[in-house]
Order: sequence, then C-alpha cells, then structure tokens
Amino acid sequence: MFNFDEPTLRTNIDSVKWSSPQEQLQESNTPDRDYLPMWIADMDFETAPAVKQAILDRAANGTFGYSDIPDEFGQTISSWWKNRHHFLIDPSNIIFVSGVVPAISSAVRSLTNVAEKIVVQPPVYNIFYNSIVNNGRRVYEVPLTHDAEENVYSMDFDALENAFSDPLTTMMILCNPHNPTGNIWSKEDLSRLGDLADKYGVIILSDEIHCEVVRPGLAHIPFASASDVCRDVAITCASPSKAFNTAGIHAAYAMIDNPRIRARFERGINNDEVAEPNSFACRAVIAAYTRCEQWLNELNSYIQANKDYATEKITNANIRTRITESNATYLLWLDCSAITDNAQDLVDYIYTTTGLKLASGEIYGANGKSFIRMNVATQRYRVEDGVNRFISAVHNYLS
Ligand SMILES: Cc1ncc(COP(=O)(O)O)c(C=O)c1O
Repeated sequence: MFNFDEPTLRTNIDSVKWSSPQEQLQESNTPDRDYLPMWIADMDFETAPAVKQAILDRAANGTFGYSDIPDEFGQTISSWWKNRHHFLIDPSNIIFVSGVVPAISSAVRSLTNVAEKIVVQPPVYNIFYNSIVNNGRRVYEVPLTHDAEENVYSMDFDALENAFSDPLTTMMILCNPHNPTGNIWSKEDLSRLGDLADKYGVIILSDEIHCEVVRPGLAHIPFASASDVCRDVAITCASPSKAFNTAGIHAAYAMIDNPRIRARFERGINNDEVAEPNSFACRAVIAAYTRCEQWLNELNSYIQANKDYATEKITNANIRTRITESNATYLLWLDCSAITDNAQDLVDYIYTTTGLKLASGEIYGANGKSFIRMNVATQRYRVEDGVNRFISAVHNYLS
C-alpha cells in the first residue's frame, strides 16, 4: 500500500501552485489563515517511487549532455496503451514532444492556416484558446450542451456538423476525458465525431492527458480507438504528467497513424524545437509505464475517495452548490449558479477571507462563469481543510 496521506512540502521548490502571492493574503482580512491552493491541475503527492528513482539514478550520473529518444520509449508507450487502454499503436508512430500544449500549438501551426477555424467545446481547458488565438487562427466554439436540471454535459452534434461544414474549419481540439467537467466520452460519441470529421476533412486533435485518472471500474476510451475512421483523422496527445505528477519534467508524446498527418506534425515540432527530450524525460515516462501500475491504481482509489468526500460534504452543507458528477480527472466542477453568475467574485472572496485558492470557471468559457473548479489531488487532510474553508466562506458570502 502506498501512503498518499504523507504530507509534502512544496513551498520551497518554485512550484507555480504553491508560490502564489502570499502578499495578497497578508493584505486580506484574515492574514492568519494559511495559503491553500486547490486551483492549477497538478498534484501534491510525490511521484511514484519508481519514477523518482529513475530520475535520481539518471541525476547520479552527473552528465547532462544532449539526450536521444531510445527505442524503448515508443515500445513502452505502445505496450501501456495496449494493456491499459486497449488501443493498438505501432511504436514508430509515437512521437516524443516536450509537452501537450507545445504539441497542440505546433499542430495548429503545421496543420492549419492563419485565419482558419478550430473547434473547441467549452467549458474547456482555457489554454486551448491560447494555442489557437496566439497563432492567428480563429476559435469556433461549439459549447457542450448542459442539462441544467441533471447537471450533465453532452456533445451537441448538430452544432458540430454546422461547424465542421464551414470550409474554413480544419481542426478540432477534443478534450478526452474532459477538463473541467470530468466527462469520459463514450465510444458511440467518439465514433460519431470521427464520422463527422471525416465527412468534412477536419483533423481531430484529441488531448488525452487526463486519461490515467478515472473512476475505478470505468475506462478511458481513446478517440482513435473508437473506429478506423477516427484513427485516420486523429492526433492523440498524452503524457504521464497528470497522473504521475511530472509536468515539470516536460515529457509528452503524440500518437498518429495517418502518415500524412504524422509527417506534417513531425516537421512542425522540429521547426518549433519541441521535439527533443531533456535528460530525465524519457526515463521518467518509461518508469511510469513499466513499474507503477499498482501505484496508479491506488492513486485512483485515493482520488475517488477525495472526490466522494468533497461531494458529500458540500452537497450536505446546503450552500446552493452542486457538484457535477466527475468520472475522470482529479478536478471537481462546482455549479454555483444558484449563488452567483460571477464565479470570479466568489473565488476572490473565498481566497481573501480563507486563503483557499480555487479556479474561477469563467476562463473555461460557456457557462463556466457560474462554476468553480477545485483540484482534490492532495492529501486528505488538505481536502478536508479546503472543503471546510469553502463551505464556511460560501455561508458567509450568502449571508
Ligand atoms: C487538458 C489539458 N491539456 C494539457 C495540459 C498541459 O499539458 P502540458 O503540461 O503537457 O503542456 C493540461 C494541464 O492542466 C490540461 O488540463
């Protein structure tokens, strides 16, 4: 058994999550409260012991010259996806890239033209917008349909067809599983999406970075595995970084079966200089995918227990907050529409009065402005603390 309750100290390592402006807190009404970050999507747990050991072993060598990508990299990823996600991919069609966002931005540049339209499904990971807009392409929003009564999200296929039929729509960035709603897309939905993309010549870039964190008993379904048509229109991007807490190691990869798309993607990441690994990248990925399955299974159980705890506690607190049922990711998507349509104001209030930092849903588009995102990938005592601060702050906000 691995001990995910073990406290970790992240204030002295230049962590984005933990080095947020303490001054803001000091200027607030309750400067005595500790800073508690539950916003950005990284975990407070140490990485799996075998990943840590692989990095320590490599560091012990003491030389950090240019690194190659060993054959084992593609072979390991291929075996992992076959065994874990029932997806077959030839190792030679797996391409190292230094991050999923660099891969997305590069694919936007190499596979679409300036001013073309790229579909996203808000509320969705906000950086997708940056990858599109910063490269002079246009965002084509096809919001997820939100059933407000049941608080569930689904794909709007009529609107998708409308978007794809626009001759200037050349790509869609799919989030699978979906950040921030925690949706796992079904094989039927993915296959239908693939058919539409094929009909109109749209490339689907499927960001599957969150695929290892799923509710125990459920399975991630890779977009490219849904049908041969999906496989042919897909660029699948993934990384162990979310589940193994290795975002700072900068190791990710793309899996592309279609040779024309693959060749253009590879050209692009080389031009963009995001195709070369640092000394630790490939070793960390290989360790994660060969020696850590039990750790990952236990992590998933721990995160699910955190989600269940937070859901029950917040639901029973009668603070007009509903939690969207989340089947994947370690993120909770809190529907605060009965409290406010200005989640940023509520998030600011919670932060300045309690020290708990959450993400306002506004940045994810669509109806996100009345939602808050909470990251529960942390030790249970911190989840309890965060949930208690959230409940008491919302109580005060309402009164
Ligand atoms: C959906 C999604 N894609 C990509 C990333 C970041 O990927 P990377 O750190 O590999 O660039 C995140 C981080 O939160 C994410 O949620």
